[in-house]
Amino acid sequence: MLKILNVVGARPNLMKMAPIMAAIARRSGELSQILVHTGQHYDDAMSGAFFRELAIPHPDIDLGIGSGTHAQQTARAMLAFEPVLVAQQPDWVVVVGDVNSTLACALVASKLDVAVAHVEAGLRSFDWTMPEEVNRVLTDRIARLLLTPSADADANLEREGVNSKRIVRVGNIMIDTLMRQLEQARRSRVLDDLGLRARAFAALTLHRPSNVDDPDALRHIAAALGEVARRLPVIFPAHPRTLARMREFGIAAPPGVRVLEPMGYIDFLQLWSNARLVLTDSGGLQEETTALGIPCLTLRANTERPITVEQGTNQVVGSDPERILAAVDSILRGELARAWRVPELWDGHTAERIVGALIGHARQ
Ligand code: UD1
Repeated sequence: MLKILNVVGARPNLMKMAPIMAAIARRSGELSQILVHTGQHYDDAMSGAFFRELAIPHPDIDLGIGSGTHAQQTARAMLAFEPVLVAQQPDWVVVVGDVNSTLACALVASKLDVAVAHVEAGLRSFDWTMPEEVNRVLTDRIARLLLTPSADADANLEREGVNSKRIVRVGNIMIDTLMRQLEQARRSRVLDDLGLRARAFAALTLHRPSNVDDPDALRHIAAALGEVARRLPVIFPAHPRTLARMREFGIAAPPGVRVLEPMGYIDFLQLWSNARLVLTDSGGLQEETTALGIPCLTLRANTERPITVEQGTNQVVGSDPERILAAVDSILRGELARAWRVPELWDGHTAERIVGALIGHARQ
């Protein structure tokens, strides 16, 4: 019996872990699993609600690390995770994504010689000012099994000298959850509750430190979003970090930008999948919009998910108001109805392939 210890920490980890745990549970004759939550995200809206909606088992262990600086968060997770790992002695530690909890737990495991599997390996923005880029590169360097979403990720790892035997392309785990939850989302009342008509609004998310932690950058982006909102309403379920910064800097949402509390997965899926376009600095949403063919404008200078631009519906537009508006206008004119396709292996069966790789690459 292989014992798997799964780690989650922050909101975007939860939709990735849900299908993996379900697929492991389906092979309970061969596999056992436990779930550790570092507690990096702790609000019900950022964590608990997703456990309920996505039917993720209650964490066996919650490390309760909470918010803090990068060093505090990473160090607290490492200190709290080490005794858990020593006591549990799993065959695999499975980490997902690129948040501080991902790197912290991978580092602890590698020092204790416990094999680490990294789901969503190989993505690179090549922008070392992003904390996630540091987390991605370092986690991949120490993980034993690199489970990638797409060929560009394989190529990045090979360029970094990773032995190709450690790389398994499994596809995009976010899409497993998206496909599983779509029917449920179609029953959500969120559009009616907000008085919205399908395709008559834009959905916005914004939380990257580079966009929201600097008052000038945030003011600049807010002005651009105000212009977008003159063309169509902008619905903005806001991350707590962004709300806190807006308050701190005294920046109000421009007219036409409706700021809401963070939404659960199902309502938010129903919201963005009915939007005319999505504006975001999230990583996951770039992929999800590509899976459903919704135009996406990424409010960042770069992306670690270039396949969403090459094959999907994503455009990287940065934070320059003119560029954002030009892209919005061309979408509204229908000019972006260009050919796009769902990348290979983004098919809803990534979790099964991950489980197959964990079994196939386990230490004898
Ligand atoms: C983290 C990840 C980021 C991911 C994002 C998704 C890192 C380096 N960043 O960023 O990659 O895209 O999660 O949400 O790991 N807060 C709350 N309640 C919570 C959690 C956070 O109010 O439950 C507030 C706190 O003020 C906190 C701030 O949000 O200081 C930032 O949280 P943190 O986990 O440090 O980073 P995120 O911006 O959420």
